Amino acid sequence: NNNWIDIMAADALPSDDVVGLVVGGRDIAIYTAGDAVYATDNLCTHGNARLCDGFLDGHEIECPLHQGKFDVRDGKPTCAPVTEALRTHAIKVQDGRVWLSVA
Ligand code: FES
Repeated sequence: NNNWIDIMAADALPSDDVVGLVVGGRDIAIYTAGDAVYATDNLCTHGNARLCDGFLDGHEIECPLHQGKFDVRDGKPTCAPVTEALRTHAIKVQDGRVWLSVA
């Protein structure tokens, strides 16, 4: 039941970094870790901060506001003060484009 949306060229992806993008009115954070690509909601579950302004270390994104952390693979909190998981979205690279399915 995936509704894939073409969001960008694959070569526009950052390298081992995070970028924010509004897709269909939803603020989405897109992460790369090596060859892997992940997507979650961009708004931290703890407060009014965009995770694309944070720091990505491997599969872990650190929120810029209170330094809470999430695993970008499943959205689960990995460091206080965050306790609520991020919503994750399906994302794939195909034919030189990046495709997102907003959950
Ligand atoms: Fe993200 Fe507080 S707003 S940790």
